[in-house]
Amino acid sequence: MPRAIQITAFGGPEQLKLVELPVGEPGPGEIRIRHHASGLNFIDVYNRTGLYQNPLPLVLGGEGAGVVEAVGEGVTHLKAGDRAAYASNAPGSYSEARVMPAKHVVKLPDAIGFDTGAAMMLKGLTAQYLLKRVRPVEGLEAGDFVLFHAAAGGVGLIACQWAKALGLQLIGTAGSAAKCELAQAHGAAHVIDYSKEDFVARVKAITGGKGVKVVYDSVGKDTWEGSLGCLRPFGLMASFGNASGPVPPFAPGILGAKGSLYVTRQTLFTHIATREATQQMADDLFAVVAQGDVKIRIDQRYPLTEVAQAHRDLEARKTTGSTILTM
Ligand SMILES: NC(=O)c1ccc[n+]([C@@H]2O[C@H](COP(=O)([O-])OP(=O)(O)OC[C@H]3O[C@@H](n4cnc5c(N)ncnc54)[C@H](OP(=O)(O)O)[C@@H]3O)[C@@H](O)[C@H]2O)c1
Repeated sequence: MPRAIQITAFGGPEQLKLVELPVGEPGPGEIRIRHHASGLNFIDVYNRTGLYQNPLPLVLGGEGAGVVEAVGEGVTHLKAGDRAAYASNAPGSYSEARVMPAKHVVKLPDAIGFDTGAAMMLKGLTAQYLLKRVRPVEGLEAGDFVLFHAAAGGVGLIACQWAKALGLQLIGTAGSAAKCELAQAHGAAHVIDYSKEDFVARVKAITGGKGVKVVYDSVGKDTWEGSLGCLRPFGLMASFGNASGPVPPFAPGILGAKGSLYVTRQTLFTHIATREATQQMADDLFAVVAQGDVKIRIDQRYPLTEVAQAHRDLEARKTTGSTILTM
């Protein structure tokens, strides 16, 4: 039987248990995929701790790549034998094989290996929608300043490169000098070590006192207030994560006081709700990777059985770029 990593209770990395689970036949609208690799994402931590609640027992993992073994009724865009990859809000990629909704799965171009496929889908599609589908009211054009927190992370390094390709001046924050160097080497126009520097003051200095049009904030609690202070009037706060903890409730009056700001809380899963949107966004991602504008860095690889260590390292901010679990 295929091996998988399952939790039966919310909690720390010790809850991640290796099990063997039967994998049945795909039903209507489903496929069965045999994974070559699974991607590690911070959402897996939220799903493990119970910050995001899913029914238990739960096989974690929202990103993977492998070979389609069987397709269910009504699935026309995939067939047995296809190389494929996905990001999905139906967890289960921490497994050697699984059944899952076909609408989240796309064919993997021949030029992209399985490891890269597993490292790029959830993070790359997130960078795609953040930069292409989340727009400030005054628009976003080449030359504009944006602020991107955790710029040396998985989503961060993809966003740095893609923003540069779009001509944006991305100001990246990261938690060490080495991480800042990495973000800069991947296209960040400016970098700020927010473990040492006042990022609000630095953003003001870099932008000549004006502030940025968009802040992409996945750090959450620790950066929320400072991020609002980095925006120019009518700027957009695009909150999309809580690596430091969830953003506490706030009074909307602060948005007026800081310059008639806009706030949105985004999730990839609204953007990839349909097969058509998923394919369109994936095609855009595959194109920037094929052109060489975005390179997918896999800085950490762990065997599936070492997943608890992978979680510890991710939460301890020891990782950079993408991380995969190998089968
Ligand atoms: N809403 C969505 O659609 C969506 C989709 C994908 C990802 N996300 C979010 O985007 C973020 C990045 O995801 P990822 O998987 O690529 O992870 P990641 O960026 O590789 O890792 C998270 C990074 O957050 C930073 N961080 C700041 N405060 C932290 C803290 N207290 N504890 C741990 N890390 C902290 C760390 O970088 P520094 O040391 O440089 O600060 C850390 O490396 C996550 O918050 C994730 O939930 C959201």
